[in-house]
Amino acid sequence: MIATANRAPSIHNTQPWLWQLHSDHLSLRADRSRQLQVADPDGHSLLISCGAALVLTELGLRALGWQIETSRLPDPSDPDLIAEFRAVGQRQISARDLESLAAAERRHSDRRPFDRHEVSPEIIEELRAVSSGGGVHADFPARQEQLVNLAVAISSADRSEIEDSEYVAERDRWVRDSDAHPDGVPASAIPHVPASHPRHTDVPLRDFETGVSGRLLIERDVDERPAIAVLLTQSDSPLEHLRAGESMMWLMLQAELRGLVTCPLSQAVDLVAFRSRLKILMGWQGVPQMMLRIGYPPAHAAQAPRTPRRPVVDVLDVAPDVRQA
Ligand SMILES: Cc1cc2nc3c(=O)[nH]c(=O)nc-3n(C[C@H](O)[C@H](O)[C@H](O)COP(=O)(O)O)c2cc1C
Repeated sequence: MIATANRAPSIHNTQPWLWQLHSDHLSLRADRSRQLQVADPDGHSLLISCGAALVLTELGLRALGWQIETSRLPDPSDPDLIAEFRAVGQRQISARDLESLAAAERRHSDRRPFDRHEVSPEIIEELRAVSSGGGVHADFPARQEQLVNLAVAISSADRSEIEDSEYVAERDRWVRDSDAHPDGVPASAIPHVPASHPRHTDVPLRDFETGVSGRLLIERDVDERPAIAVLLTQSDSPLEHLRAGESMMWLMLQAELRGLVTCPLSQAVDLVAFRSRLKILMGWQGVPQMMLRIGYPPAHAAQAPRTPRRPVVDVLDVAPDVRQA
């Protein structure tokens, strides 16, 4: 169960979490030693990543036949305690939960250009429904002027990040030339884009191909127009960051079940100043917490590789009384 929950996406595949098994509950804690100091000074992306892990933990426990009660950020004096899960009864294991868990195992961030086939309005509505709730609202900007404004905001955030040598050094520390590492973004998940042949996209993707040469081959000359999801919350609190991570995970699972692929696109929401600027520029009522590209996988392309994870022994701490029992 923990191995599946550990498949949650996280910024730069930092996996900033730890589970603790107690005699009467399971807890999920943030691992601040894995927080990005430059790209994530306020722990926003860390909490979004932990929100995704929270959803997979709940799903895994339900798939073991337990009815679960989850308390989010239960102890104000211990902000790293993300959630406590308590079994409050037994339940029938639902086919839906099992399908979602299988989708969690298959899912990966796909940084390639997507197929030209557009995501239908019906599927967009489905994605909106699964990812809205708990104080999070999903928006799918599609009007031309909205897309232009988004493209400008993402380019501008991307530029200020890559002009910061500390940001670049931190990002490069998490990019891995081989798949042998248990964390970080491996070259096999990074598209190879020669400088002489840039991608035809208005929305720049986070560029991981600086320290290493990407190994993921991509189709050339695709005019990229992915669907874009934006997850918004009323204000910008830690609980809302966590909730946005949960919504992102539900959206990713539903997309996977529908044969779609996704990739977070978070430059314009990494920093609090970027989020405030984007909110004003787009005229949104809420604060944008997360953005994702969504589309169909490129036709005839090989499956993009699964990224590595740390072994369960490194992310699960078993309390002494449980170990003795
Ligand atoms: C909060 C957050 C922000 C992310 N931002 C980006 C991004 O800007 N660009 C990108 O290509 N991937 C981004 N990712 C995806 C991670 O790099 C990816 O989840 C991680 O490498 C694990 O790979 P997987 O999703 O294929 O399992 C983000 C993920 C999270 C949770």
